[in-house]
Amino acid sequence: MHVLLTSDQIRDRVEEMGREILADHASDEAIHLVCVLKGGFMFLSDLVRVLKAHVTLDFVAVSSYGTQTRPSGEVRLTKDVDHGVKDRHVILVEGVVDTGQTLHYLQELFRARSPKSLRTACLLSKPSRRETDVRVEYVGFAIDDHFVVGYGLDFDERYRGLPDIAVLAD
Ligand code: IMP
Ligand code: MG
Repeated sequence: MHVLLTSDQIRDRVEEMGREILADHASDEAIHLVCVLKGGFMFLSDLVRVLKAHVTLDFVAVSSYGTQTRPSGEVRLTKDVDHGVKDRHVILVEGVVDTGQTLHYLQELFRARSPKSLRTACLLSKPSRRETDVRVEYVGFAIDDHFVVGYGLDFDERYRGLPDIAVLAD
């Protein structure tokens, strides 16, 4: 395992992303963050501390069939939001966009519920792995095709608590 992004690099970038998000929203608009569990939880918790009073929160959980490091692309919603998103300014908050299938599925799902706006924030993106053309307004870091763990991201539910993001050796 070797460190790809240190906790300091992550903190600085999440702060910038928070400022980008604030700049795109009027100061009197509540920003409704919908976190994709579980991988997005640590990114969410740092992001809300940048956005401070401007946010409300909700959570979805999805699971993808396939193997640990190579999902099949078939996405299943295992937990829906508790609150409606109609007429809200919604941002989906996800840890990593890989093939794009998960976010594609979620964006379609939420777009059909008539939010006032729908954007997506992802800490990591692997552009070379994309199979579905999915729009992500806020990307923390574009990375090469590595399977990474830490800062909320797991391999078989392990390593989520690492403060850095590390590449898992094969
Ligand atoms: P996608 O649907 O292929 O874009 O995959 C997104 C999901 O796959 C994420 O929500 C993660 O759960 C998982 N995933 C993809 N790449 C990684 C990785 O490098 N580390 C940990 N999880 C990953
Ligand atoms: Mg996982």
